[in-house]
Amino acid sequence: MKNLIVFYSLEGHTRFIANIIESIVKADLLELKPEKEVPKTGFKKYLWGGKSAIFKEKPTLKNKIPEIKEYDNIIIGTPVWAGTYAPPVNTFIAHTLIKGKNIAFFACHGGGDAKKCFDKLTEELKDNTVLGTIDFKEPTDEDKEKITKEIEKWISTILEK
Ligand SMILES: Cc1cc2nc3c(=O)[nH]c(=O)nc-3n(C[C@H](O)[C@H](O)[C@H](O)COP(=O)(O)O)c2cc1C
Repeated sequence: MKNLIVFYSLEGHTRFIANIIESIVKADLLELKPEKEVPKTGFKKYLWGGKSAIFKEKPTLKNKIPEIKEYDNIIIGTPVWAGTYAPPVNTFIAHTLIKGKNIAFFACHGGGDAKKCFDKLTEELKDNTVLGTIDFKEPTDEDKEKITKEIEKWISTILEK
């Protein structure tokens, strides 16, 4: 089974989780990078990022997207922006034919939970089998051991199915 972890992270939380998943699962790792990044600080971050998410923008990515048909399992990670997935993830799923795959989602958020975001991803990727989801509120290095255990458990349940 070939696995792909694909994610976007503006401020590092989702990257932190992606790296832990990669330490547990043998997988290729793809970090989505928009050509034009949202400002990382201040009010502009929420204004620009929020607008971009609400209007379902598809920012151009710097990445070359790999051949998706090579992969059996695709694990997609995103921060929650305005209750949904971040725009670079929107670009990825809109421009990539993802069909008949096993997929799973992980997300980081500020406490508003990720259910709506996962529901939207599930709807967009409905020609696939969703194996599971996991989300974290602003995970930090301090909790790395606990988070790693949680992810190990999650991976063992989703990849057994
Ligand atoms: C533009 C923007 C919109 C956000 N909207 C939400 C939201 O709707 N709900 C929530 O719980 N957190 C929201 N957040 C907080 C992020 O989801 C949270 O900080 C996350 O951990 C960031 O992940 P990252 O470090 O990988 O970028 C938002 C952050 C930004 C920048």
